[in-house]
Amino acid sequence: MAHWVKVCDVAGAPASGAVMECEVEGIGVCLANVGGKLSALDNWCPHRRGPLGQGWIEGNAVLCPWHSWAFDADTGVAEYPEGERVAVFPVQVQGDDVLIEIS
Ligand code: FES
Repeated sequence: MAHWVKVCDVAGAPASGAVMECEVEGIGVCLANVGGKLSALDNWCPHRRGPLGQGWIEGNAVLCPWHSWAFDADTGVAEYPEGERVAVFPVQVQGDDVLIEIS
């Protein structure tokens, strides 16, 4: 059943242009801040399970630190290579908490 869980404090969220790794309920999450908007993606790249939360942002994409596959921060769809994607999780801020919805 889908539910919202805290991933970090607002103060601990990545700054604009940065990413970070978190883990909630055993799920690895890449939290990304693209121009002030937070996005949450599956942390594990479908190529060879590189940690997206250790990668970086270019444009609206999160790039994997291992071989630079690029995933749209909003949709999880890969800009490169075509046909790949990672899961994304809805994000909301409630008070001082950053929450994501997982099922
Ligand atoms: S493991 Fe992510 S691009 Fe290779």
